[in-house]
Amino acid sequence: MGALAGALRQGTQALHTTVERSHYMRTLLRGQMPRAGYLLLLRNLHPLYEALEAALQTHRNHPLLQALHDPRLARSATLTQDLEALHGTGWPAAYPVQAATTAYVQRLQTLARETPELLVAHAYVRYLGDLSGGQQLQRIVARSLQLPDDGTGTRFYDFGEAAQAQALRTRFREGLDSAAPEAALVERIVAEAQDAFLRHQ
Ligand code: HEM
Repeated sequence: MGALAGALRQGTQALHTTVERSHYMRTLLRGQMPRAGYLLLLRNLHPLYEALEAALQTHRNHPLLQALHDPRLARSATLTQDLEALHGTGWPAAYPVQAATTAYVQRLQTLARETPELLVAHAYVRYLGDLSGGQQLQRIVARSLQLPDDGTGTRFYDFGEAAQAQALRTRFREGLDSAAPEAALVERIVAEAQDAFLRHQ
């Protein structure tokens, strides 16, 4: 493993464990998340991914970001699909956008304006997380919300066949390493990824 992917994994491992053990994630993992709670989660992920994906699109030719720009990763449209399937078209007004979400979106917009190289950290935290633990969560969510097994309501987790999700994961890590930023920047990116994890607690 090259410098950036390894540094990100190492630098966020402890925080990952904390997030995984949070009350919210445990409720989700146990299949005990009420439908309204799950919809609130999707509602709040939506503006976050919109901001992240707009920023990655703007900076798609940035040397640190270009290898990570892959339309197959984009999640905002899948979130819309799930929200419509699970709630209907009135979803934007039905669930509140929380203050933490607004602050997260503002952070992403600030990075896009001032330090786009740090967007790598947010792409890492969200996409590699979705490509990893997300696969396990899809089955749990589908079962606990009693969804049909054709993927309705869980498109967010759908990256194609398991082999494709694995290939995207490998490609993403290779993309991180191909950028090979200098040590001081690696440190700033890891710090930003830690901040991103803290925003999920
Ligand atoms: C119930 C909650 C969660 C479970 C069960 C879970 C599970 C997992 C698993 C099994 C992996 C694969 C580890 C490996 O490849 O060695 C993983 C990786 C990852 N997860 Fe999670 N996760 C959860 C929540 C989260 C959350 C909320 C985030 C982000 C906010 C996240 C971000 C990540 C990232 C970035 C990775 C990639 C680590 C790396 O290989 O560098 N996870 N997760």
